[in-house]
Amino acid sequence: MANSVLVGLQWGDEGKGKIIDVLTEDIDMVVRFQGGNNAGHTVEIGEEKFILHLIPSGILRRDCRCVIGNGVVVNPLTLQKEVAELEARGYKVSDRLRISSRSQLVFDYHCVMDGLFEQKLGDSKIGTTKRGIGPAYADKVNRVGIRAEELLNPNLLEKHFRTQADFYNQIFREAGVQTIDIEAEWAKIKEAAAMLAPMVEDTALTVNQAAKAGKKILFEGAQGMWLDVDFGTYPFVTSSNTTAGAACTGSGLAPSRIDHVVGVAKAYCTRVGEGPFMTELNNETGRRMGEIGNEFGATTGRSRRCGWFDAVATRYSAMLNGVDQLALTKLDVLDDFDTIQVCTGYRLNGRELKEMPLAASDINHLEPVYEEFPGWKQKTTDATRWEDLPPRCQEYLQALSRLIEAPLKIISVGPRRDQTFRV
Ligand code: GDP
Ligand code: IMO
Ligand code: MG
Repeated sequence: MANSVLVGLQWGDEGKGKIIDVLTEDIDMVVRFQGGNNAGHTVEIGEEKFILHLIPSGILRRDCRCVIGNGVVVNPLTLQKEVAELEARGYKVSDRLRISSRSQLVFDYHCVMDGLFEQKLGDSKIGTTKRGIGPAYADKVNRVGIRAEELLNPNLLEKHFRTQADFYNQIFREAGVQTIDIEAEWAKIKEAAAMLAPMVEDTALTVNQAAKAGKKILFEGAQGMWLDVDFGTYPFVTSSNTTAGAACTGSGLAPSRIDHVVGVAKAYCTRVGEGPFMTELNNETGRRMGEIGNEFGATTGRSRRCGWFDAVATRYSAMLNGVDQLALTKLDVLDDFDTIQVCTGYRLNGRELKEMPLAASDINHLEPVYEEFPGWKQKTTDATRWEDLPPRCQEYLQALSRLIEAPLKIISVGPRRDQTFRV
């Protein structure tokens, strides 16, 4: 594999962290290109479990270099903590991680603002992770954001931070919410800046030099296609482009340098937070799926909503991302179901649709049309090759690949590294 982008095809939490970890066995560099610490990417190695929020999952391979690209929004305090935690667990981070000088910094006032927006929305709230992601991206496009380059210049950083914090505190005062303690925050930021500054550089150069030297680069997407700010279920989305194209704008590597796109999807579907979810199961089956799949958010601990695989939505994702390698995860979660449904169309006011309707207001009224598959009722967690899978399971996987028009290349049957194989 040369340079590849890996993205989630659903609403996030597809198991991207785990697949990245498997693929990085022969990868030289992993680059995050969007999102922030709203992401939670789980990697299980033996008995150890890691949840990565900002640091690329490749950090767990000791000879892999990692980059946080310009498209990412970086909370310096949480990044400092993440680096320290990994180092305490025996992973040397500071010599292998580089942070784009152009990435935007997230501060406490962004998190408070995130909460304030949600409070104002009331019943129509988005259900954000409250990590300040939306307000930080808003500051970026408003051209008042503070970039990581200022970590190298504490005097300038302090001046900008105080100006922005004063501005936000005024809003908080007027809204009657707790203001931030600027002195206490600045003390923490100053300390984090000192720790992170040596890692800040022009990572567009870092990434391009690696590509030129023939290194293999993997771009680690966060969230999922249906949370993309343009293509997702707007406004119930995140604030960045989560689709493969963002790997270029979020890192500085040109599209001509990208060779493959790996799309990761669960064998069923989950969503955390509010917003439309066409195949959601608000019943015992959904609860069972969540229980077997241990569907609790890796970042917020919230329980994830569960439902059947939506082939219409996932085909659209595969198309937008140009997926040429499909990775299907959490197949084992379906091992004990008598029958399994796959959504192959929608019904809206009596009409059958083969694609998602244009109007966001219609999406809430879609009724899924299902194709039923018999369950295989057999454990798949020990499978290590295609031939080990029960025939009904193989048929299910082949149907998913055909329906979403993407070639199946990787199958995951459990959270561990060794519970993954190529087909
Ligand atoms: P990400 O955000 O896409 O990296 O996914 P998360 O880490 O948020 O959530 C995926 C969860 O499923 C994690 O707890 C993983 O350990 C777990 N997981 C990944 N692949 C599999 C699998 O094939 N089977 C099972 N049972 N769990 C898996
Ligand atoms: P990974 O990378 C699942 C969801 C939130 C909310 C919406 C907006 O682990 O797959 P935000 O805080 O981004 O403004 O919240 O997006 N969300 C995720 N859902 N996995 C994620 O990341 C998510 N990151 C954000 O729950 O609905
Ligand atoms: Mg996650």
